[in-house]
Amino acid sequence: MTTLLQINSSVFSTGGQSSQLADHYVATWKKANPSGKVVTRDLAANEIPHLGGATVGAFFTPAEKRSAEQQAAIALSDELVAEIQAADVVVIGAPMYNFSVPSVLKAYFDHIARAGITFKYSEAGPVGLLTGKKVVVFSTRGGVYAGSPADVETPFVRQFLGFLGMTDVSFVYAEGLAYGDEKKAEAMKAALAETEKLAA
Ligand SMILES: Cc1cc2nc3c(=O)[nH]c(=O)nc-3n(C[C@H](O)[C@H](O)[C@H](O)COP(=O)(O)O)c2cc1C
Repeated sequence: MTTLLQINSSVFSTGGQSSQLADHYVATWKKANPSGKVVTRDLAANEIPHLGGATVGAFFTPAEKRSAEQQAAIALSDELVAEIQAADVVVIGAPMYNFSVPSVLKAYFDHIARAGITFKYSEAGPVGLLTGKKVVVFSTRGGVYAGSPADVETPFVRQFLGFLGMTDVSFVYAEGLAYGDEKKAEAMKAALAETEKLAA
């Protein structure tokens, strides 16, 4: 069965503009893949904590040597890793917040970057282990940055996903959403149309 994992990171949860675009992708994908399974991870509804010393300590301890406390500290990370490992398609709502991704999405990224599980180092350098996935990132912005050096969010997200082996990544932008109702409506309409093409 084909599985799609939808990760929303807007503080507005399902009401976020990035979540709305991601939802539209998922609805269109579901029509084309009626037997496909959709798993939703809403990072506003279920916040991912910042990485703490206990969790990182557990990351660095071999599985068979972890204490009960360390197993508890690593449980969420294990769950998030298993969830993304099982996904064939990954849809990410990633609005621009203060030039980057929302901090909950960074916390999520911190939990799925696991040496020996989602990436490893070889003599030739790092090797991503989350391969064979299609990823679509929906980035909504108040201003207009895509394609300019001021867009530091896109290269970061692309670099991070690529490091874990996810290299088939498309970005859909809706920008200028703070430039008035008309511009906002135009940008959302164009992004929805692009979304439909990508999902069909
Ligand atoms: C905390 C916060 C920080 C923001 N920072 C930026 C920014 O750095 N650049 C920008 O263009 N828009 C910024 N915006 C505007 C959002 O990118 C824009 O409203 C986007 O559509 C929000 O997506 P969402 O509704 O999915 O959360 C910010 C909005 C919030 C709430």
